[in-house]
Amino acid sequence: MIFLNFIKTTLAISALTLSTTILTSIANANSDVEVMHWWTSGGEAAAIKVLQKDLASKDVNWKDMPVAGGGGSDAMTVLRARITAGNPPTAAQMLGFDITDWAKSTGKLGNLNAVAEKEDWDKVVPAALQKFSKYEGKWIAAPVNVHSSNWVWVNKKALDDAGGKAPTTWEELLTVLDKMKANGITPLAHGGQPWQDATLFDAVVLSMGDDFYKKAMIDLDPETLGGETMVKAFERMAALRSYVDDNFSGRDWSLASSMVIEGKAGMQMMGDWAKGEFIKADKKPGEDFVCIRFPGTQGAVTFNSDQFVMFDVGDQSEAQMKMASAVMNPVFQSAFNVVKGSAPARTDVPNDAFDDCGKKAMADLAEASKNNRLFGSMAHGHAVPASIKNAIYDVVTAHFNGEFDSKTAAEELEAAVFASK
Ligand code: GAL
Repeated sequence: MIFLNFIKTTLAISALTLSTTILTSIANANSDVEVMHWWTSGGEAAAIKVLQKDLASKDVNWKDMPVAGGGGSDAMTVLRARITAGNPPTAAQMLGFDITDWAKSTGKLGNLNAVAEKEDWDKVVPAALQKFSKYEGKWIAAPVNVHSSNWVWVNKKALDDAGGKAPTTWEELLTVLDKMKANGITPLAHGGQPWQDATLFDAVVLSMGDDFYKKAMIDLDPETLGGETMVKAFERMAALRSYVDDNFSGRDWSLASSMVIEGKAGMQMMGDWAKGEFIKADKKPGEDFVCIRFPGTQGAVTFNSDQFVMFDVGDQSEAQMKMASAVMNPVFQSAFNVVKGSAPARTDVPNDAFDDCGKKAMADLAEASKNNRLFGSMAHGHAVPASIKNAIYDVVTAHFNGEFDSKTAAEELEAAVFASK
């Protein structure tokens, strides 16, 4: 009898333990967010920690799904495989046209309207971002920042050694690059990857004029794509190529940033995620490095915004809503973007906590937007859909690597864009 009672009690306890375990894991699963992103460099990882901590304080459990590769092309390939297999992550970092393209093709994105309406996102997110965060009247993504691609990050000592004056025109830029070369350092730190070549191209095309950028990269006007000014833009690309070291091929963008941080190179032409690397290395704007707009593009901005797209994953929608709300919180947007190097995605976040480059980023964005000089970055998915962007990448990279002369490159560009439309 005693033995029978013992068995009964043991069974009851096991059943209780089992059901508690099941309940706990269901509860955990519901508060989990599996987030796919490509923020794997030192500065990016520091920024993502800010987000993870914030979510943990709201009982949202972060399941990390990093896919290394600047610009996110590799992440998009992995995402496609997950979606095709019917197993999308809870949330994914995405850029511009990729967001609306996924919404169109899968129809499987979450609906954030409940939280967006409650928190008045319509009023605080600029229209240029809303264009990508919403689809058919539904908020499908929460924008976490605004980056821009037409920046140059200059080592302060290298600049001082080259005469001390930050270049404001193309000619002045060449003079500084020549002096840096004469001083025995690599003038331009660059990583030869298509998206990085394209980031240079964004800035170079914009330096030929706002109208030219718009007609070429946004309107895809054939005559502009294949015309004389485009040949000149490619000539500028070839000129920049001559200041890059021999080992540039395939180099990660953050390693190029390190070359500038360490004074082995003079400057890097890169979006303001590069600033995240300088900050992570404890470098100060104005003292250790200088941030300038690509010469000839002052007052204009080619922007891109990282957004967290939510997929329709049933059970986790509560955690998704919490995550979306946390991402859009103004205090969080300040803390996160100070580390990431970007500007907030909301227009009502104070600039107090930002360093001088961050303050400049925010002021430049507001000014460019007011003056109709704010353009979506081609390199970072905000000017044209991925199919056309990739066609442009191919030509730009082939030219950068000497496969085409500048005249042929312009002809190839016109043809490639035509074929990809
Ligand atoms: C951009 C993205 C940034 C940064 C960068 C380098 O496309 O918007 O947040 O991650 O790529 O990976």
